Amino acid sequence: MDVAFPSMRDMNRVFEVLASLRDIIEERPLSPVPPPWCEARGWTEALLRLSDEQVAHCEEHGLAACLPELAGAPSDLVELGRNVLELTVVPAWSGPTSGAGRREKLVAQRKLAQIDRLVEHARELAASSNRIVDFGCGRGHLTRLSAASWDKPAVGLEYDEALVHTASALAKGFRATYVRCDARRQRPKLQPDDLAVGLHACGELGDLLVELSAKAGAKVLLVSCCPQKRAASVREPLSMAARHYGLRFEREVLGLANLTHRRECLAAPLAEVQAARERRYAVGLLLRARGHEHSAVRPMRGLSRRFSYLDLATLATAALARCGDTPPTQGELSKVQARAKVEHAVLRRLGLPRNMLSRLLELGVVLDRAACLAEAGCEVRVAAAFDTEVSPRNLVLLSQLSGTSVLPW
Ligand SMILES: C[S@@+](CC[C@H](N)C(=O)[O-])C[C@H]1O[C@@H](n2cnc3c(N)ncnc32)[C@H](O)[C@@H]1O
Repeated sequence: MDVAFPSMRDMNRVFEVLASLRDIIEERPLSPVPPPWCEARGWTEALLRLSDEQVAHCEEHGLAACLPELAGAPSDLVELGRNVLELTVVPAWSGPTSGAGRREKLVAQRKLAQIDRLVEHARELAASSNRIVDFGCGRGHLTRLSAASWDKPAVGLEYDEALVHTASALAKGFRATYVRCDARRQRPKLQPDDLAVGLHACGELGDLLVELSAKAGAKVLLVSCCPQKRAASVREPLSMAARHYGLRFEREVLGLANLTHRRECLAAPLAEVQAARERRYAVGLLLRARGHEHSAVRPMRGLSRRFSYLDLATLATAALARCGDTPPTQGELSKVQARAKVEHAVLRRLGLPRNMLSRLLELGVVLDRAACLAEAGCEVRVAAAFDTEVSPRNLVLLSQLSGTSVLPW
């Protein structure tokens, strides 16, 4: 790895800034009423003054990057944006991946690019390990290809039976085996010479991988995602350092860490994504008007997100049917549509400062894991493993017990 990131100082700086922004992170604007954090900082007026073009530009490029050019932006918001950009610079794994663009039967190109990158850059880490344990292996591509490339036995852990089946079928002739288990319940026993790997090991699975590795002294190669995917309603920090800053976050709040404003990662062009969000908001208004207060909080619960790319009448009919209610009238639809247009425009503006903190929160979770391993006597490294086009969830955490390595860390 090229740069020794993060130091304990790097981690503490991120934790400290996150702690100072907790009020923003914890309160996502859900109505056109400006949240207290926005009012208290005096940002409301400047945000509501933004033109539609300015809002779309900020959504596409991130508010932090746009603030210096936004006339009349509050100076403390500009300063915060600068800080966020500075704190979220993470060293990138350098150099092209050898064999870039190669094809593997049955592995999607983007997944293959991720795997190739990990296999290549963690080769030395793997060389000093006796076994690979892949947490949340899915179809087992990383398990299988890393076993072959590193010439090590590998075991993939996965709780979806069908995926274990597929993975096993694909791995005939490879040194890879698969076990169906819920790693939370049947906590895998790791050995000090294991390399625990996870590619997009979501939510609590990533936390578990880190906790078990720290306890066993196993090596770690983890690309995380979706910190909000967990059974518990709150994520407790793993490290003493993050605990010191009180960095415990509700599950719903952690969804912010998964946000991406990169055009290439969106389900549709940005304008269509915003139109779909406005429709979802309109459906929430309709559900509330019909007395389905509980469902109005999450109007899409139980419905595929793709539904919101259809017309409002279809979406609203499906959402009402889910509540056992009759389809909307044309009058109801026109009313909520008009109100949603106005209120959603306000929400987009009020949401900009919070959305600006998404990468910082994502990094905060990764650094909490890194700090947990460091506190257990490990050397840790965090890097951007691949381009965001390959996957926006690209932060990789590597670790090994201090003093055990042949690595040039
Ligand atoms: C985002 S997918 C990643 C799959 C694979 N690593 C990849 O990169 O394609 C996460 C996988 O973890 C599995 N998983 C989540 N929680 C788990 C748990 N507690 N025990 C075992 N597997 C789990 C899911 O079923 C899913 O296949």
